Amino acid sequence: MNLSIAGAPGLTDEEFRILRDYIYHRCGMYFEDSKKFYLEHKLGRRLKELGSRSFSQYFMDVQQSGSDTTEIQEIFNTVTTTETSFYRNVPQMQAFRNLVLPGVVAEKFSSGSRTLKIWSAGCATGEEPYTLAMLALEGASSFPADLRIEIMATDINRSAMNTAERGIYSAMSAQRLPDDLRDRYMTPHGDGFRVNRDVRNMVTYRFFNLANGTRYLSFGKMDVVFCRNVLIYFAEASRRKALEDLSRVLNPNGFLFVGYSENALMMPSHFSLVHYNTRPVCYRAASLKGNSHRKTRH
Ligand SMILES: C[S@@+](CC[C@H](N)C(=O)[O-])C[C@H]1O[C@@H](n2cnc3c(N)ncnc32)[C@H](O)[C@@H]1O
Repeated sequence: MNLSIAGAPGLTDEEFRILRDYIYHRCGMYFEDSKKFYLEHKLGRRLKELGSRSFSQYFMDVQQSGSDTTEIQEIFNTVTTTETSFYRNVPQMQAFRNLVLPGVVAEKFSSGSRTLKIWSAGCATGEEPYTLAMLALEGASSFPADLRIEIMATDINRSAMNTAERGIYSAMSAQRLPDDLRDRYMTPHGDGFRVNRDVRNMVTYRFFNLANGTRYLSFGKMDVVFCRNVLIYFAEASRRKALEDLSRVLNPNGFLFVGYSENALMMPSHFSLVHYNTRPVCYRAASLKGNSHRKTRH
């Protein structure tokens, strides 16, 4: 199947390998040989816009322009997959609301801490962090009044995060969201909805590259991390490294949610699988003196 863009230069096998390695080193994502046409199609449009004669020429220009340029951001915006929706993976959302949040809040309370930190890593267009904010608001009446909930949402796709900050969505992206949550926390807007300001104000968006291990701890320790449907695009080595970095960011007894297709990933040994209603939903970082590989059922 030829997916190249009319008028755009073609991508040779050699150029594909160079581009693939470059993307891998910059952001951990790895494109198998079968994805050559995907890259050609996605970036071909950009080359056409810029009037580049070949991928080699484009690549040389990108490299010469420095390490953090607009064009590298364009590449991130173009090659990443941002598919997401509100209330994605219902069992995980139910577990977050009914098991994880009350448990973490109770621990905070007994330790004297009053700030609960949640990180949506690879947040795409914001549906995930806003869903978490809605669920936190749902529980708020049973939490201590002075509890502060901070939700940080990060991605390498700035264009997706601009959409997130506007908070305007199609009806389709909210179709899994229970009606009562949608009615309480969203307002009809055109053919879809806008997330209400109180929910939007709970989430802070920032650029963060999960393949850049050195800066993880600059955000401080987290109680709950969601990193769903992000690491499936990584090569094994970058995935393993990101998981180790994420595990270091979690407070002892913190929770890590990954996507369902990522459940088989190699988890650091001090993580135990947590079940809710008999389904595996997330991982818990056992306090390091506790049993590893222990299964927790609720
Ligand atoms: C399929 S979306 C997942 C969105 C949401 N977490 C969910 O499960 O619905 C994957 C997101 O991961 C982001 N991503 C890919 N590589 C990344 C990296 N190295 N650092 C941060 N985010 C990355 C992409 O830009 C994209 O927005």
